[in-house]
Amino acid sequence: MAQSYSSYLKVDELLALQQARSEGPEHDELLFIVIHQVYELWFKQILHEADFLSAALTKGSGIRASQTLDRILKIFGVLIHQIEVLETMTPLEFLSFRARLDSASGFQSHQFREVEVMLGVREPEKLSHFVSGTPAHDKIQTRLAAPSLWQCFLTFLRGRGHEVPEVQSNHDVPAKLSEVLIDVYRNDHEAAALAERMVDLDAALQDWRYRHVKMVQRTIGSKRGTGGSAGVEYLISTLMKPAFPALWGIRTQF
Ligand code: HEM
Repeated sequence: MAQSYSSYLKVDELLALQQARSEGPEHDELLFIVIHQVYELWFKQILHEADFLSAALTKGSGIRASQTLDRILKIFGVLIHQIEVLETMTPLEFLSFRARLDSASGFQSHQFREVEVMLGVREPEKLSHFVSGTPAHDKIQTRLAAPSLWQCFLTFLRGRGHEVPEVQSNHDVPAKLSEVLIDVYRNDHEAAALAERMVDLDAALQDWRYRHVKMVQRTIGSKRGTGGSAGVEYLISTLMKPAFPALWGIRTQF
C-alpha cells in the first residue's frame, strides 16, 4: 500500500499518546502533556544532531559542525520560546490535576540528562533518579562513556594544530588551555567562530533554565517539586552554571 501522510508519520499512534489522568478530564492537562511530549521529541532531535556534530568535529569538518550547531541553536530557540505557551496556564488550572502527577517530575527526563551529559556536564547525583539496569539509565551511561561535545571540540582544535592540553572534565581549565583558546580567538577565525556558537549553545541552555524556573515560580510559587526537590529554590541553584567554563573564563583575559 502506498504511504500516506498518516501512515508515514504514524499520526494515529501519535495522537493516541496524550492520555490525561484527571477526571473530566481537566481542560489544561492536555496542554501539559502535549508540551512535555513536544520537548521530548526535540530533545531526541538535539541528541541526534549532537552525535552528528561530535563526528563532524572529530573529523575536522568545521563547516558541517557549524551548520549542525546552528540547527541545534534554532531548536533551542523553539524550546525557550514555547515556555510562553505553558505560562498561559494559571496556578489554579495546574492545581486541578497536579496531584495526578504523583512523583512524576522533569528530574526523570533521561533525554534532558543525556543532553547535559553530551555537553560534558557531569553531575552524578542527578543520576540517582534513574534505576540501574533500566533503558533510561543505560542510555545515560552510554553517553557518559562517550567523548563529550567539549572533548570533541578540543579534538577539533588539536586537528588544526593547536596544542590543547589533555583535560579531565569541562571544569578542568589549566592556564595552558586558556592560553590556547585566546590564541584561537586571535589567529584562527574559523575555529573562533565555532567557539562562539558553542558559547551560544551554552547560553541557550542557561536561558532555558531561567525561563523554566520563572514559569515554575509563577505556577507553584515556592512549593516543593513533585520530584522531591525544594522546587524553585533548587532550580535557582542550577542557574549561571556554564557548560563550557573555559570559553567564558577567557573573556576577562582579552
Ligand atoms: C507547570 C509546569 C512545570 C512545573 C510546575 C515544573 C516544575 C519543576 C520542578 C519543581 C522541578 C524540580 C524537580 C522536582 O522537584 O520535581 C523541575 C525540574 C525539571 N523540569 Fe519542570 N516543571 C514544569 C514544566 C516543565 C517542562 C514543560 C519541561 C520540559 C521538558 C520541564 C523539564 C524539567 C527538567 C528537565 C527538570 C530537571 C532540571 C534540573 O535538574 O536541572 N519542566 N520542574
